[in-house]
Amino acid sequence: MASVKWSITLLLTRIIHIVIADCHWWWCPEDPEGKVVGYGADPDMVSVSGVSAGAYMSIQMHVAYSASIMGSGNVAGGPYHCSEGSVRTALSSCMDKPEAIDVEGLINFTFDKEASDEIDPVSNLANHKTWIFSGTRDTAVDQGVSVALEDYCKYFMPRANIATDYSVAAGHAMITEHYGNKCSDQRNPYINGCDYPAAYYILDHIYGGALKMPSQWGVALSGDMLQFNQTQLIPSYRGSHSLDDIGFMYVPSGCRSTPGCKLHIVFHGCNQGRYKLGAEYAVATGYNEVGEENNIIMVYPQAVTSIGNGLGCFDWMGYTDNKYDLKEGVQMEFGKNIIDRVTSEHHACGFFRSQMKQKPCLGASAPPPTPTLQPTPVYC
Ligand SMILES: *[C@@H]1O[C@H](CO)[C@@H](O)[C@H](O)[C@H]1NC(C)=O
Ligand SMILES: *[C@@H]1O[C@H](CO)[C@@H](O)[C@H](O)[C@H]1NC(C)=O
Repeated sequence: MASVKWSITLLLTRIIHIVIADCHWWWCPEDPEGKVVGYGADPDMVSVSGVSAGAYMSIQMHVAYSASIMGSGNVAGGPYHCSEGSVRTALSSCMDKPEAIDVEGLINFTFDKEASDEIDPVSNLANHKTWIFSGTRDTAVDQGVSVALEDYCKYFMPRANIATDYSVAAGHAMITEHYGNKCSDQRNPYINGCDYPAAYYILDHIYGGALKMPSQWGVALSGDMLQFNQTQLIPSYRGSHSLDDIGFMYVPSGCRSTPGCKLHIVFHGCNQGRYKLGAEYAVATGYNEVGEENNIIMVYPQAVTSIGNGLGCFDWMGYTDNKYDLKEGVQMEFGKNIIDRVTSEHHACGFFRSQMKQKPCLGASAPPPTPTLQPTPVYC
């Protein structure tokens, strides 16, 4: 009898210990400051995508961190190192004068940076995938710029691994099935409804062509739409890194407490950060629906404006410093820190996290409101 009592006491003590020491009631110890916790995502299934400046950021993450990233999706972007660190080149060759892009020079630059260990070995790219899109109505970034990206990628990846679509009558924007401006528009928020789920096509191509297509778009999902504290993942940097304090992530219901999900990082374009759109880009572009169906965690890093970056773009033109598209670039390292954190061991508090059902802000015809700072869930 005494020993039974003793065992029960021990068991209770253990449970109380777990709750108090590891979980602070229902919230994980890191979370009071909005830290991203590990979800045990599969480190071999990490990919990136973006639109416009976000597409440039996506390809530079893919090329520089090819040991950690196995695929990219590029909507209305151009080749790696296109701007060569010059705003003037960025705004001319890399937007509407593709004939001036020296793809061979960019390939040579890539090999030089591989040789100096400033990017991962390019041989990693040989079995990677990329998806490239440019609309016929895009007058901001000429289709030729995306073709230059395709030419660049062909040098490193087998043709079968490169999917392109230059056929949709879309303006300069992130393209969705269900949400945004008219397909041919080019205006705020630069999200266009084209009956074309670009997020699905990107992810389906990268992850092997067997992803489930969501049956509905813009509906409430059962996963968690969260915001996280970017500050803790930003490397120390002298000067303005132009990164926001807060980023967004969507954790599918199948990934809350189960490790091994895929991870996809989405880079918004200029003028699309939280400072301008709140959580709209993170909830309305169709990625989360695909993530929920296919157990892919979505992370949406957020940039802000700064001197030299008046439109709040991710750095694809060297406004931070000349390492902007190498592994050591401040925004690049930040991206890598996101990968390392989300792929790190699944947090013991997964069970408690799963008790906190949140309704994600999907399906609103008006942009969702800017979420409050704490706690992390984003309410509609
Ligand atoms: C983010 O983390 C930093 C560093 O730990 C902390 O100082 C800051 O208060 C946190 N921000 C928010 C919004 O929680
Ligand atoms: C690229 O490198 C090759 C081999 O070193 C060289 O022949 C070629 O001229 C270079 N091209 C450019 C544009 O720098």
